[in-house]
Amino acid sequence: MLDPARIMQRCDALAGHSELPGGLTRVFLSPQARAATDEMLGWMREAGMQAKLDAIGNAAGRYEGESPGLPCLMLGSHLDTVRDAGRYDGMLGVISAVECVHALNARKKRLPFAIEIIGFGDEEGVRFGTTLLGSRAVAGIFDARSLEAKDPAGKAMRDALSEFGLEPKRIPEVARKKGQVLAYAELHIEQGPVLEAEGLPVGVVTAINGFSRLRVTLRGVAGHAGTVPMNLRRDALAGAAECVLAAEKIAKGHPELVATVGRIEAKPGAINVIPGEVGFTVDVRAPQDPLRKHAVAAIRSQIEQVSKDRKLECEIELLQEFGVTTCAPWLMAQMDQAVARQGFRVRRLPSGAGHDGMALGAITDICMLFVRCKGGISHSPLESITEADAAAGARVLLDFIEHFQLPA
Ligand code: GLV
Ligand code: MN
Ligand code: MN
Repeated sequence: MLDPARIMQRCDALAGHSELPGGLTRVFLSPQARAATDEMLGWMREAGMQAKLDAIGNAAGRYEGESPGLPCLMLGSHLDTVRDAGRYDGMLGVISAVECVHALNARKKRLPFAIEIIGFGDEEGVRFGTTLLGSRAVAGIFDARSLEAKDPAGKAMRDALSEFGLEPKRIPEVARKKGQVLAYAELHIEQGPVLEAEGLPVGVVTAINGFSRLRVTLRGVAGHAGTVPMNLRRDALAGAAECVLAAEKIAKGHPELVATVGRIEAKPGAINVIPGEVGFTVDVRAPQDPLRKHAVAAIRSQIEQVSKDRKLECEIELLQEFGVTTCAPWLMAQMDQAVARQGFRVRRLPSGAGHDGMALGAITDICMLFVRCKGGISHSPLESITEADAAAGARVLLDFIEHFQLPA
């Protein structure tokens, strides 16, 4: 039997592993991540799975099928969070998957395939600025150059892994081979308002929007805020402000395009000093790759133009890029059927947010099930779901698992 109350309690329990008292922040390879991962490994074992911490810091569990060593249906999501996060983004998917295996194990039910559940150690990319680290490793597309990426305190990922008790040279061992994974299915909160607006607890995802992320540095000349006349300034922050508005304007030019400047730092950062250097990030997403690429090119050229006009030096670095990931039609059809069998109207919708499935798409076909969240709010402590919707999501996921079959 599925136990929705336990799903909610476990989301609450994981939220207790936070570096932020009274809120939730849990980044890759932190002591709080270790505590959450250990707790998850315990729940996996309790559900009848073999479970271990893998070499990139994922919680990895396996429930054998009718005979040992069969290829698996992989389920999962992430255990890391953004800063000041909600408690369902990522965690709900892992906890719900474990609940499904718990229910199968209670009935001593084995399937003609194994089930693997991965609680990915990093999806959000908060600590090292590079996302999907756990799922990239599993998909065999982990870029070893990211081991040299540094966190804001200057610690390299390689050293953080060692301090976590992991051996970076073993990361390639985490990679699954094509054929070992029959498909990947991820349950996740919607993080948007569509399901709520339509009165539906769940939805079937069609595709995950692609993203590009830039880091921009503008350099002008720092100076005295009282003495330098306005026409003789080279103010990097005033230039950055123009760039932020330019990015917003470009994104507003197409209904399916979004662009966000989520982080900005001005140096030296004093009330009476003209900012000499500014760094900011730009995150651009779209459901079609050419649309996103075109927007990124337009934003770059606007930043260059603003810099030229204001006599600023400008550096633009492409931090990350991931193309649109389409969910497999045969898996969407099976998820639709599970939704309908559980008595819900089938609603398909795209994902504006990124997910671990993007990386898994490199080795297997993927699909996703969205669960309604209140007000469509996510990446915020206000993120919330009802126990009834958690129950609906877990029921559909379990139904999908039990009816899962490869296409003829
Ligand atoms: C992940 O949550 C993302 O889409 O940024
Ligand atoms: Mn997120
Ligand atoms: Mn997420």
